[in-house]
Amino acid sequence: MNNILVTGGAGFIGSNFIKFISAHNGATIINLDLLTYAGNLENLKGINSATYHFIKGDVCDSALVNTIFADYHIDTVVNFAAESHVDRSITQPDIFLKTNVLGTQTLLEAAKKHWKKLPDDKYSREYKAGVKFLQVSTDEVYGALGKTGKFTENTALAPNSPYSASKASADLFVRSYHETFGLPSNITRCSNNYGPYQFPEKLIPLMINNCKTDKQLPVYGDGMQVRDWLHVQDHCKAIYTVLQKGISGEVYNIGGNNEKANIEIVRLIIHNLGKTDALIRYVPDRPGHDRRYAIDNTKITSELGWSPSYTFEQGMAETIKWYLDNQVWLDNIISGAYTDYLNEMYTTERL
Ligand code: NAD
Ligand code: TYD
Repeated sequence: MNNILVTGGAGFIGSNFIKFISAHNGATIINLDLLTYAGNLENLKGINSATYHFIKGDVCDSALVNTIFADYHIDTVVNFAAESHVDRSITQPDIFLKTNVLGTQTLLEAAKKHWKKLPDDKYSREYKAGVKFLQVSTDEVYGALGKTGKFTENTALAPNSPYSASKASADLFVRSYHETFGLPSNITRCSNNYGPYQFPEKLIPLMINNCKTDKQLPVYGDGMQVRDWLHVQDHCKAIYTVLQKGISGEVYNIGGNNEKANIEIVRLIIHNLGKTDALIRYVPDRPGHDRRYAIDNTKITSELGWSPSYTFEQGMAETIKWYLDNQVWLDNIISGAYTDYLNEMYTTERL
């Protein structure tokens, strides 16, 4: 792991991961990010410039991706780049297909070309030593759970939203490049992340920001949908563990053992900010809304020795404080285009 290509490194998890790697490993990091609405270079302020390079560009741009592999002698890819918001995938599915599926396949093809010992031999499955492609996926590819049970790595894929369908498709391409070409790879499937630098369209930062400014808190449906929350630092540590110890071709689920109903989280934020339930506004449900996600993380804990270190209480207290302390970061985001998005998403009929 000398030269890591991190895609989508200006987003929420990618920027946390770049900081994590900088602190734990001397590798050179190349961050390829298109800086869509979700990409924000402010997330990376203070990063060590001697080992870090930023390139603004599209993971679907094959010529650019190949140049980066050649120029920086890339030996590791961690693919975060994606359209990541389910609500947006309902209104604009095509961009999810393009970035999440074609982008991943473009990166896989470049990795195969640059990492194969004999690039022109289509039957050769031999690769240079130490190379790995890590695809950052999601538990949403498994679809929805009922009241009981958890997702294991053997749970059948059953994505329900255009977002999760695109992530599942990307996973299948990664699998196929391993099975057909022998590309050294892993797929990680994590549950909902929370922590600093998350774009405030997502549940936790949206609710903190609305609550702070006494805006209504839009709870979809009955608010009893369950997510299994994972602190972003625990996620970064898990990805690093899989890079170092993951068996090629394997999938690893990553979860924080923190199942919470959405309404519990909204109430926790209200309580923490000293507000009242009067701010809660039940709004029409998200179409195709998955009822419950929960991760069985036995494989990564028992085989690779990773386990989450944050309790939900500690992680949420720190996270709420971070958003309150970083008003300037939020203010810079909550402007122009983001405000237009909010107005469209939470129209007067919905609120
Ligand atoms: P994010 O939306 O905060 O960041 C995505 C980043 O990708 C942004 O910086 C954006 O500019 C960049 N990007 C988008 N299209 C691009 C393109 N065509 N080329 C290059 N860069 C592009 O997302 P996130 O929450 O940090 O999620 C990162 C990854 O983790 C995604 O693949 C997502 O599916 C996965 N994931 C996220 C969560 C979660 O809770 N946030 C949970 C499970 C899996
Ligand atoms: P989100 O943060 O969008 O993540 P995901 O859809 O990938 O799980 O949403 C988390 C949960 O919160 C999900 O069940 C939808 C719900 N939700 C609301 O109830 N209101 C909101 O305004 C948002 C953004 C989400």
